[in-house]
Amino acid sequence: MVVNSRYIALKICLTVIEQGRSLSQALAEGLAQFDDRRERAFAQNLVFGTLRWQERLEAIRSHLLKKPLKAKDEDVNQLILLGLYQILYMDTPEHAAVSETVNLTKSLKKPWARGLINGVLRSFLREKDAICAEVDKKPAYRFAHPQWFTKAMRKAYPEHWEQILAANNEPAPLTLRVNPRVQTREAFLASLADNEIDASAHPKAPFGVVLTQSQDVTHLPSYDDGGFSVQDAAAQQAGTLLAPQAGEHILDACAAPGGKTTHLLELSDDQANVFALEKEPERMERLSENLFRLDLHADLDVGDAAQPDDWWNGAAFDKILLDAPCSATGIIRRHPDIKWHRTPEDIDALVTTQAAILKALWPLLKPGGRLLYATCSVLPDENRNQMSAFLQATDDAREIPIEADWGLTIEGAPGRQILPGLDGMDGFYYCLIEKISSE
Ligand SMILES: C[S@@+](CC[C@H](N)C(=O)[O-])C[C@H]1O[C@@H](n2cnc3c(N)ncnc32)[C@H](O)[C@@H]1O
Repeated sequence: MVVNSRYIALKICLTVIEQGRSLSQALAEGLAQFDDRRERAFAQNLVFGTLRWQERLEAIRSHLLKKPLKAKDEDVNQLILLGLYQILYMDTPEHAAVSETVNLTKSLKKPWARGLINGVLRSFLREKDAICAEVDKKPAYRFAHPQWFTKAMRKAYPEHWEQILAANNEPAPLTLRVNPRVQTREAFLASLADNEIDASAHPKAPFGVVLTQSQDVTHLPSYDDGGFSVQDAAAQQAGTLLAPQAGEHILDACAAPGGKTTHLLELSDDQANVFALEKEPERMERLSENLFRLDLHADLDVGDAAQPDDWWNGAAFDKILLDAPCSATGIIRRHPDIKWHRTPEDIDALVTTQAAILKALWPLLKPGGRLLYATCSVLPDENRNQMSAFLQATDDAREIPIEADWGLTIEGAPGRQILPGLDGMDGFYYCLIEKISSE
């Protein structure tokens, strides 16, 4: 089937921007229409790029077209952004970027937009440098992030905010986690080399392997034998920090799709007694499939971590992993749609949920037991402020400082923060706390 990659890219962007659907879902449906790998990759680049740079492209568009288009013509607006993205960021020759974009007005059945888009893109080619210089004066446009988030990063990380915003606009590496029950990292690297696949050991994650080129992992050696999983190096730190031991009773409170559950089990040679809880039944299905593929075993339950009365049998846990629901602002480079889908109000609601889950789970931990709080967020309210408040309000909780050669600590604040892009990792936060034993 011959499909127009620019048209499919436009449709995917519209699904995300207009309908508020997640990029992962929209991509999965949109890209399924391609037989040709190169066309598919081109469409994917176009979608990621246009969504990543949306805030900057919009600012440029509003310079060129003072009167905004009507809401019903958002497709024409997105088409202009797609054209601007190709001119600014892709190697497409400028004349092709303009003509191919203009031609799509036919597919949209909006022939009136042909002249308009042609005029806008050609004006941009003439005044590119001046317009970009003007737009880029504002950091939110220069780095293409929402105003509120740009402000929050400047405040939280006065020395790193530009680095964070820049890293959010870079493609993320494909990082794998070797399953030590099946093979060593060295053996896996050797088998990748035998298959002429470029890869290297991650410097900060003992089981991490970074592939130089993104690819379908189901075709890699040892996939069918459960030899590895896909997991960013930042997320791989959870298993090492919780250090699961055979026979320990461990709660993984927000578990699906099981990236960390499976790591806890691999590290204990499937001997830890893991209870994995998840609120969403469909996501629990994915956890089940992952356990099956890796031949690992855990007790599973669908339930709300903030309501232990509904699922807890009264046996206290040695360790708890709370990989809390969060804004996912640490993984914007993988999911650029987070920039549009998250609002400051969402963050307030998430902070309340995280606090409620923490409070509800604390009594389930044995004296002397440890709880690891984790988020893939870079917002202090979900991270260091959340844990400061919990530690202050909880007499029998104390922090175990994380000594590590990754991430950074903030003076006077609990936990360790990984900033996106640092050592190639996703943005993540960890805080390890212990229940003080009265004996
Ligand atoms: C950050 S994700 C967990 C990722 C997972 N730990 C992993 O490593 O693959 C958070 C998960 O918590 C689930 N969740 C959200 N609120 C919850 C709640 N109140 N109780 C239990 N699970 C919840 C979400 O559905 C989501 O699957």
